[in-house]
Amino acid sequence: MAHVHVVANQKGGVGKTTVTVNLAAVVADTMGRTAADTPVLGVSTDPQASMLEWAKRVGDELPFDFEQCDDDPRVLSRLRRITKYSHIFVDTPGTLENQPILEEVLRQADDVIVPIEPEPLAFSPAARTIESVIAPSGVRWRVLINNWDPRDGDVDLGQTRDYLAAKRFPMFNTVIRHYKLHARAAAEGVTVVQYAKNRVALEARQDFFRLALEVLGGRGGPAKHAKVNGRATTNGSTNGGNNGGGTNGHARANGRERVNAVSTRGGR
Ligand SMILES: Nc1ncnc2c1ncn2[C@@H]1O[C@H](COP(=O)(O)OP(=O)(O)OP(=O)(O)O)[C@@H](O)[C@H]1O
Ligand SMILES: [Mg+2]
Repeated sequence: MAHVHVVANQKGGVGKTTVTVNLAAVVADTMGRTAADTPVLGVSTDPQASMLEWAKRVGDELPFDFEQCDDDPRVLSRLRRITKYSHIFVDTPGTLENQPILEEVLRQADDVIVPIEPEPLAFSPAARTIESVIAPSGVRWRVLINNWDPRDGDVDLGQTRDYLAAKRFPMFNTVIRHYKLHARAAAEGVTVVQYAKNRVALEARQDFFRLALEVLGGRGGPAKHAKVNGRATTNGSTNGGNNGGGTNGHARANGRERVNAVSTRGGR
């Protein structure tokens, strides 16, 4: 069974798609066996489909397989039963209206990455998603500080960490820094593993390799009991909806779009 890593925050524009694409890319780039046999599937469940647009622009160079499936809850409910991949990275919508999609995906998740930006206005919406949707799901989750610009100094970063610590929210050690390269990548049709081999690009890429190490390093351990405002949340038997027949290979959905199927997947 695949490990399903979900990237979620109902606040828009915090970097969910950026994190999903680049994390999937570094894991696929590192773990890929052959060009036609990637162990990584990227999934977008966001009706806005910005990950799909990005994946199309990357084309054959996309180092992982990709599925757009936002329109069929039956597909989402089968993610964990996909046996073809070791890791599935799932992008989710940045809106409150699409909460049913997020809730369905969380039932399939092994862990959740919650990106937030180091700026106080972003804190409350992220806390709302965590406290009302993610923590109650019982799935292991951690907050990821994304888009921190070191040129702005450490004050915002420190405040963000203090806020998360006061809330007793578990967080990644890795901070994804702000780089123009990341901001341009979707339009230019590249992922972090295709950036040029110069110092800035290597630093930008390094953040995602560090994150990947934390995400994958955490996957095999015992379920953690993350605390929200002092209340322990349970982990474990919340992955309902996994009963029934198995799905071998790609999820199937009417109207969903698939990019970079195994047979057309290019080299890296
Ligand atoms: N670390 C970063 N460095 C530079 N730009 C970034 C970084 N992270 C995200 N961005 C930029 O911020 C914008 C929002 O990012 P992204 O689309 O990934 O957010 P999102 O949470 O998926 O948004 P939505 O909720 O609308 O789906 C994009 O223009 C993206 O390129
Ligand atoms: Mg997005």
